[in-house]
Amino acid sequence: MDDLLHLARLMMLRAHAPYSKFHVGAAVRGEDGSIHGGCNVENAAYPQGLCAEASAIAAMVAAGQKRILECAVIGPGPEMVTPCGGCRQKLREFASDDLPVHLCGPDGLHRTVTLGQLLPMSFGPHHVGKP
Ligand code: THU
Repeated sequence: MDDLLHLARLMMLRAHAPYSKFHVGAAVRGEDGSIHGGCNVENAAYPQGLCAEASAIAAMVAAGQKRILECAVIGPGPEMVTPCGGCRQKLREFASDDLPVHLCGPDGLHRTVTLGQLLPMSFGPHHVGKP
């Protein structure tokens, strides 16, 4: 887990968040054990911004992985950052309800929850015929 938290923290430092100034980092572990990081990438056209989790997932898929075994998210302040609704759904595409999501702050791990807790009764690939 430490490697995942370390990468998420590094990612947070690389965030492009000149508008919100709210830097977020995320890291996911693929099925082969490889880890992939992402940060939020904001845009002057505000809705075009990308969340940290989404960019970590994109990096993982680009590296050839299609399953997330573990995820870490880190935010800048004392308030624990939880993935936004859209990111919960994006995680669901590549993970099941039991996915551990480590919620962290600059001081380290705050709490680990499951994706099922974050997104109960989710709509997933099986609803459209994918295992
Ligand atoms: N943000 C993330 O990167 N992940 C989340 O799950 C919550 C929000 C980013 C989006 C935006 O760049 C900034 O945090 C403030 O909302």
